Amino acid sequence: MLYCYAYLCIVFGVLGEEQGLDEQGLDEQGMPLADAGAKAAVLVEALPYIRRFWGKVVVVKYGGSAIGHESEALASFAQDVALLRALGMVPIVVHGGGPQIGAMMARLGKVPEFKEGLRVTDAETLDIARMVLVGKVNREIVTAINVHGSLAVGVSGEDAGMIQAIPRDPALGFVGDIARVGPELLSRLLAQDLVPVVATIGVDEAGQAYNINADIAAGAIAKALSAEKLVFLTDVEGVRADPADPESLVSSLTAADLDYLLGRGSITGGMVPKVASALDAVASGVAQVHILDGRVPHALLLEFFTRSGVGTMVVA
Ligand SMILES: Nc1ncnc2c1ncn2[C@@H]1O[C@H](COP(=O)(O)OP(=O)(O)OP(=O)(O)O)[C@@H](O)[C@H]1O
Ligand SMILES: [Mg+2]
Repeated sequence: MLYCYAYLCIVFGVLGEEQGLDEQGLDEQGMPLADAGAKAAVLVEALPYIRRFWGKVVVVKYGGSAIGHESEALASFAQDVALLRALGMVPIVVHGGGPQIGAMMARLGKVPEFKEGLRVTDAETLDIARMVLVGKVNREIVTAINVHGSLAVGVSGEDAGMIQAIPRDPALGFVGDIARVGPELLSRLLAQDLVPVVATIGVDEAGQAYNINADIAAGAIAKALSAEKLVFLTDVEGVRADPADPESLVSSLTAADLDYLLGRGSITGGMVPKVASALDAVASGVAQVHILDGRVPHALLLEFFTRSGVGTMVVA
């Protein structure tokens, strides 16, 4: 624990340097800036959270919409994941890739089609989704995390029976529901102190692959691994009561709130599976579930280590 605390001091020191502070606490203009008291307060504030999540599995769903937001977004996310691991948490990253699949389809001249937030997936779209998720997005996240040490291992839900799928609806093509999450592969990777990064392609008993919504997969993985916390990082500050109004952030959301918002058409598209998965996770014993803006630099650090409540907290 002491080691972790020292590590946190170093990292917050690094953040200070990134903000233009030198080791004497002077900024680039030579002005004294380092407020030692404020820095110490940040560290002290972090301590109970480090203790609370020490050795606990935390699942982070990184939305494809947040990944490509700006060139620095992925690097900031990767740094946060490495820090969670270094501070004794046991992170599992589950990622999406909707915009990246859409961009590749556009390059190949295919028009995407959605039904209730789920991508209609014919055989060719499945091929594209699998190539983009497993071959591109997954690799990029793994590589970004491994800048901070040999930590991350990329896996697909097809690996070692991790995501066992069944077809959802013939009208959606190769879109799968999760029949079962086999936790063994993830447990083995965690036991080796590795950070699994999961692309959510599932497979049925006959070996047919399916595209699985990453929000639903993240919730199912959190349940299967008895995670303490599940965080969805997306491209909006949280759930809005009015999708067009950024001021209408809902800071805490229950199943009844969701029914109400769904009933009046306020939750649509990609937010539907996210909220459904979040509610299912809290109902199944995941202690904390949050939907946050992954475009904000170090959104994960702020959520894990400070009292400032950001985004939407989902409660049972
Ligand atoms: N009530 C709502 N509040 C906030 N966002 C909403 C709401 N209803 C619909 N949305 C939409 O949901 C989107 C987030 O879901 P989306 O599937 O696009 O992102 P993601 O899940 O983070 O990325 P990916 O699907 O690639 O993993 C927001 O950008 C917003 O347009
Ligand atoms: Mg989505």
